[in-house]
This record gives sequence, structure tokens and C-alpha cells, in this order.
Amino acid sequence: MADVSDAWVWLEGTVLPAAEARVPVLDRGFLYGDSVYEVTRTFKGKPHLLGEHLDRLARSAAGLKMRLPPREEIAAATLAAAAAVPGSAAAGRGAIDVYLRIVVTRGAGELGLDPMLADAPRLVVVARPVHPPPPEAYRDGVAVVISTRMRSAPSLKTGNYLESVLAVHEAREAGAHEALLRDAVGRITEGSSSNVFVVRGGRIVTPPTFAGLLPGITRQAVLTLARADGLAVDEAPLWPADVTGADELFLTSSIRGVLPAVRCDGQPIGDGRPGPIARRVMARYAESTEGPP
Ligand code: PDD
Repeated sequence: MADVSDAWVWLEGTVLPAAEARVPVLDRGFLYGDSVYEVTRTFKGKPHLLGEHLDRLARSAAGLKMRLPPREEIAAATLAAAAAVPGSAAAGRGAIDVYLRIVVTRGAGELGLDPMLADAPRLVVVARPVHPPPPEAYRDGVAVVISTRMRSAPSLKTGNYLESVLAVHEAREAGAHEALLRDAVGRITEGSSSNVFVVRGGRIVTPPTFAGLLPGITRQAVLTLARADGLAVDEAPLWPADVTGADELFLTSSIRGVLPAVRCDGQPIGDGRPGPIARRVMARYAESTEGPP
């Protein structure tokens, strides 16, 4: 089993080491993927954009007609889990920053698909030191592949991530960091766990949320920061040729932040190095997460 000795879990009002945390096998999250979740991280001890993540969790739950525990309970559980990671609580410079996964399942109950069989929503928060990609990934850029996979219910963050799991498998087999997913007509929508941006002719382009993708919280932050920085930004469909023929490519997610990609399906993007606009957006995003000292 993977070493989870650095991971802590909030469950039923207490925080305990992940290796000791137990969820019943009749939980519908386990049986049917009948759950919603969020992933964020702390910067200097503070969960980044927690309000936005809790809003999206509520939207995902509404999409599944699932009840959630009170928002204050979820927020408090998240903070308690984060604080349990040794070295995190100081929340000052140099404190360890924490990966946070907030999961709510519909609960356990009699076997059967009927959602009415569920007892009560179950909240689990996992916290452990965050491990974003290594510095050289940001310096040199990563590789991506274009997958044939499509997410179901793509605008919701649910426990159904099999298409993304299989897309990552394709990426790993090709030695790539991330797989880009397509919609039914072949347009690129997003990555397996990231949003995707290209730069063409000096303009930043990312697919619109109505294209069927997760409205990424980092995506939205980047759109706002780029526009405030005077960059031209379009939300428009992306075809595979728009990606392979792009001048620059980058990915966004809560854990990665802004990550340049320099190869797609084995071919270089632009000159095969992180481009000036991707580096500028990376810098703006890094500034935005710094916060007051
Ligand atoms: N994934 N698209 C998909 C399919 C995702 O799963 C994610 C996030 C994103 C980026 O969203 P955000 O900027 O809000 O993190 C886009 C998280 C990190 C995960 O599942 O681990």
C-alpha cells in the first residue's frame, strides 16, 4: 500500500491518520461513485479560494440532487484537517502547504441505485503536504497527449472520474504528464484534471464553459488576471489542430497552478519551450497566491 503516513483525514468530527480512517463498504461513494468532491491547497496555511470551491461543491451536489452538510461544517472540517498536518498550522512563511480533498458521498444504505436508500451525507476531508509538479516542469514545460476519452456530466465534480483515470493511463503510456479530453464532435474541452489554454497570434484561447468542461477555479482566476494584465483572451472552441498548431500551450488546476506544456502527441508546441505569454500568466498567478506576508 502507498505510504500515507503524512496524510490526515477529517471523519465524523475527528481528525485521524489516513491509515486509520474507515468508511463503510455500503457507502454509495464506494459502490456507485455517488459523491462530489473538491481539491484545493493552502498557500501559507490558508486554503486557496475555499469559498469558490465550496460554491462549486454545492453546484455539483445540486446537479446530483444530493444534500450536503452545512457549509460551515465543511469549511471547519477543511481547516481542521489542514491544521492536523505537522508544520502547517503556523501559516506563516516557510510553513508546509497542504493538499486538501473535500469529499461528500450520498451516504450508506440498503443496496440499490435508488438515491432515497441513502442515510445521510458523509463528509471526508483528506489533507497532506502538497506536491505540485517539480520546478523543472514549470521551467521546461510538460508533454500532453490528445485522448479519445470524454467525461460524463463534465460540468460537475463527481466521484465518476473513470474517463479521466483512463485518459491519464493513455498519457502515462505515452510518457506524458496530462491527457486532453474531447467532446462528441472531437473538440478539445479540458485535461483529465486541468483546464487547457493555447496562445495563437498573441491571443489566449480557452474553451468556453458551455463546451462541457469543469469550470476550473484556476481557469477563472487566470482569465481575470490575464485580462487585468492587458492580455487578449478569448473563450472559443479548440480543435486538435488549434492545440498542435498553437504557439504556446498551458494547463491550469488548483494543484498545478499554471503549468506550461511544450509537446502534444510527441510534437513540439511552438519552439518546444514555455513561451512568453505562458510565463507571464504563470508570474501573475504566482503573485496572486502570495498574499500578504
Ligand atoms: N481537478 N478539469 C477537470 C476535469 C478537473 O478535475 C480539474 C481539477 C480542473 C481544474 O479545476 P480547478 O482549477 O478548479 O482545480 C479542470 C482537481 C485538481 C483534481 O481532481 O485533483
